[in-house]
Amino acid sequence: MSSIKVECVVKASSSIGEGPVWEEKDGTLLFVDISGQRISRWNAETKQTESMTTEKFVGAVVPRRSGGYVMAEGTRFAAVDWEKKTSTTIACVEADKPNNRFNDGKVDPAGRFFAGTMAMEVQPTVLARKEGSLYTLHPDHTVVKHFDQVDISNGLDWSLDHRILYYIDSLSFMVEAFDYDIQTGSICNRRKVYLLEKDEGFPDGMCIDAEGKLWVACYDGGRVIRIDPQTGTRMQTVTLPVDKTTSCCFGGRDYCDLYVTSATQGMDQAYRAKQPLAGGVFRVTGLGVKGIPPNAFSG
Ligand code: BGC
Ligand code: BGC
Ligand code: CA
Repeated sequence: MSSIKVECVVKASSSIGEGPVWEEKDGTLLFVDISGQRISRWNAETKQTESMTTEKFVGAVVPRRSGGYVMAEGTRFAAVDWEKKTSTTIACVEADKPNNRFNDGKVDPAGRFFAGTMAMEVQPTVLARKEGSLYTLHPDHTVVKHFDQVDISNGLDWSLDHRILYYIDSLSFMVEAFDYDIQTGSICNRRKVYLLEKDEGFPDGMCIDAEGKLWVACYDGGRVIRIDPQTGTRMQTVTLPVDKTTSCCFGGRDYCDLYVTSATQGMDQAYRAKQPLAGGVFRVTGLGVKGIPPNAFSG
């Protein structure tokens, strides 16, 4: 058994740090600060961070095969020109819901961008219920809505054989699964995979590892848990020095390191003084398990 080490690699103090994506070609970690309205890219070698601000809350940003990124910002999907630090609208959703915004998103193995929405929060996890939906931006730029009645649309990833979509609506306290059709991008047969225990907090961002197990960041739980989706059991818990752990992805050499984002929003001064690293990005090494490369939007 290797020894597990947790270090804060980016002292970002993000309001809601989220959506980490490893970019192998540059050795960089891309992530967002949702309510801080910022996209950042941290270079693991130089330790430099490059940022751009967004006009609205930015739920997720993903690499694009043709270059640059695509983001789910406010209630639009938009192309991001990282050199120029500009964006162009691709498609809009929920014109009838001015109080909604995009939250977490991820690209499927065929290059489709999935992202879900939620109502704006009054305070963390307190919001109008069932206002959100899950969408796909297809490579031809059409948008498909899969379902509504979502509280806080969050973690997404696909099984290694691409036949299952794993999904989190945070206020359900569950990791769920759907049968996935990789040919069409459609989903069916929703079911429970894992119900979080009381002290585990809210399930938030999620990623799959090279053994097909799920890593779930637990908001207000100060931990990342590893779930076996076949048995619906927890295999491992990694604790972090901050409570508001929000999302995770594998990166680094051979995808051996787990990067974990965190938030400060909702913490008062005394709380923040106790957790000075809140809002930072953490790197967990020595897990003895690898991740898989992220997918890029193919449109
Ligand atoms: C959302 C936050 C929310 C948190 C906990 C995050 O994905 O962006 O606004 O408080 O999940 O569910
Ligand atoms: C749709 C409704 C849906 C609601 C919740 C609206 O944009 O028109 O059918 O129930 O979103 O997501
Ligand atoms: Ca999230």
